[in-house]
Amino acid sequence: MKLFLDTGNIEDIRIAAETGLVDGVTTNPSLIAKEGKPFVPTLKKIAKIVQKHNKRAVINGEVVSTDFSGMMKEALRLVRLTPNMIIKIPLIPDGLKAVYALHKKKIGTNVTLCFTAAQALLAAKAGATYISPFIGRLDDITSEGMEVVGEIRQIYDNYGYPTEILVASVRSPRQITDAALVGADICTLPTKIYHQLFKHPLTDTGLQKFLADWEAYQKKQK
Ligand code: E4P
Repeated sequence: MKLFLDTGNIEDIRIAAETGLVDGVTTNPSLIAKEGKPFVPTLKKIAKIVQKHNKRAVINGEVVSTDFSGMMKEALRLVRLTPNMIIKIPLIPDGLKAVYALHKKKIGTNVTLCFTAAQALLAAKAGATYISPFIGRLDDITSEGMEVVGEIRQIYDNYGYPTEILVASVRSPRQITDAALVGADICTLPTKIYHQLFKHPLTDTGLQKFLADWEAYQKKQK
């Protein structure tokens, strides 16, 4: 399963990407606004950082227009920034029209703000590269986000759609395991959760014990 970072913070991306385990970055207008830095240079920097450690890593930049021609204009501008750019487009009728047009031009897209399997079916029919079900926001309203991911997996497998399932709006490390179990292709994670994935208290105490035993053994050898 691929792991993306869900952030616009350059320093966080730089640190996490050094592990070599980061396959991409997703941004959205809220994440970019949170950093308060200029949009285009930020995307360019992120693209460069992730590719330094993983040649195939992608960056997802989101359009803010809501009409077909505006989205197309923005998308064509964004893809010129870097060859690893994926265009994030909201799941609205004009959005899927743009996804279809970009698919014809062989430009990668990530259909965002997906909350049902039926929406995901439409995105796959339009030729989306990725579909982003927002599981955390579904859980927030007492729906089961992961159930929607499972339904999408089943539908895409039934019909052989190549669209990859990118689990978004992740709130806890456990959701990465659950997403992998239902066969999601990608999870995009806030950096805090990415770092939490490495951690277990037994790993830390186990390592401390190994090192203490080693030190005692070394002393005895002298
Ligand atoms: C994904 O591409 C989105 O940027 C993101 O996962 C949304 O997450 P949130 O619901 O925590 O804002």
